[in-house]
Amino acid sequence: MIMEAEKRYKVLFVCLGNICRSPAAQGIFEHIVRENGMQDRIEADSAGTYGGHRGELPDRRMRNAAMYRGYGLTHRSRQVSGLDFLDFDLIIAMDDQNYEDLMHLAPSVEATHKIKRMASYLTTHKITYIPDPYYMGLDGFGLVLDLLEEGCGNLFNAIKAEL
Ligand code: 4NP
Repeated sequence: MIMEAEKRYKVLFVCLGNICRSPAAQGIFEHIVRENGMQDRIEADSAGTYGGHRGELPDRRMRNAAMYRGYGLTHRSRQVSGLDFLDFDLIIAMDDQNYEDLMHLAPSVEATHKIKRMASYLTTHKITYIPDPYYMGLDGFGLVLDLLEEGCGNLFNAIKAEL
């Protein structure tokens, strides 16, 4: 008898443009998953509520800041869709506007339960959202990576405890 491969737990990170925060979150999270040898159990993707950057690599400033910490970001921007709520187990919003936009896009009440805020996984940083670094200086990208490293680490531990 051919055994069906176990379905992987799927996490989608969502921001506005899908060129700064959410591809960085995806890259950091995938790095943690690989470090823990869980690639066959957990997978990640990212998307934006705004589709204007579709097909683009992450913003060069974010790619450089991430590479400095050892994360190569190769995701191509895409827009989130209602179908993502069927495909993914967990959908992580970077800020309150992303959260509200996802709540409106969700195809059912049940689907809204998959949406969580990235900041809800922060423990030491006292901030309720991941700020948009697009119009910030280079320090903004470092701050976002600090927040995402902590949030992704705690998110990974929470998922691992559930699997
Ligand atoms: P992100 O940053 O949502 O973290 O990818 C942004 C990227 C692009 C724009 C806004 C935010 N934009 O307006 O083009």
